[in-house]
Amino acid sequence: MKVLATYSIKGGVGKTAAATNLAWLAARDATPTLIWDLDPQGAATFNYRIRPRVKGVKSLVREQRPLEKAIKGTDYPALDLLPADFRYRNLDLQLDQVKKSTKRVARLLRQLEDDYEWVILDCAPGISLTSEAILAAADAVLVPVVPTTLSTRTLYQLTAFVEDEAGLDVEILPFLSMVDRRKKLHRELQHELLEGDPRMLRTPIPNASAVERMGLLREPLLVTTPRHHAAKAYEALWEEIRERLHRSRR
Ligand SMILES: Nc1ncnc2c1ncn2[C@@H]1O[C@H](COP(=O)(O)OP(=O)(O)OP(=O)(O)O)[C@@H](O)[C@H]1O
Ligand SMILES: [Mg+2]
Repeated sequence: MKVLATYSIKGGVGKTAAATNLAWLAARDATPTLIWDLDPQGAATFNYRIRPRVKGVKSLVREQRPLEKAIKGTDYPALDLLPADFRYRNLDLQLDQVKKSTKRVARLLRQLEDDYEWVILDCAPGISLTSEAILAAADAVLVPVVPTTLSTRTLYQLTAFVEDEAGLDVEILPFLSMVDRRKKLHRELQHELLEGDPRMLRTPIPNASAVERMGLLREPLLVTTPRHHAAKAYEALWEEIRERLHRSRR
């Protein structure tokens, strides 16, 4: 089982859009995949037309109730979803009350080790106990970077946090998100990031209203408009992620 988290300190950068499409791609060839929506806003849950309700977040965290009980099937055969719940806003609080809290998400996922090949964790923005527990559970973290000066700065803050502060062994895979080729600054920063940071995945996700419409249609872009250039970009990104993980043997 490989665990990937879409994560950024910054909000609104394309984490959920990526998680929604990449999870579908992971499950496409009948590979058992789970998307766990850990953001109390529940956007990934919404995209997959599932009701955002998880009974007893507390009992899940305390392992009094198996994770499996909260999992729902989606419209796509190999893809399951663990929905978000507004009560996830208390996840930090719940985690704070258990031992080895930063290892708890990893420990919970061990329950599902034989059930899924891919697990995609869609995270809320910010740095919290929950995000630390998520980063500790992931093999790799996919970080959308919108080519603005602030986004690039938060990427380095995240790196410092992962490597220096938390000492986590998670591969950081940043990718360019919401790239607008018409903007000179975007072109410049894209070039700078691709040249300057070897971790950067090569495929940029373009800024496209088709991605925005996903929230309306409530289906992955790969299902509604598979030939759209943004859908093709997610497809290429997914191939690249698999290649990188294979190369680093994660
Ligand atoms: N490539 C894109 N082109 C255009 N719009 C996009 C793109 N990716 C995401 N969006 C839109 O931008 C908004 C934020 O995207 P998304 O929800 O994926 O970000 P997020 O990082 O998960 O946000 P949050 O931090 O709130 O969880 C949404 O309205 C989404 O439809
Ligand atoms: Mg989100």
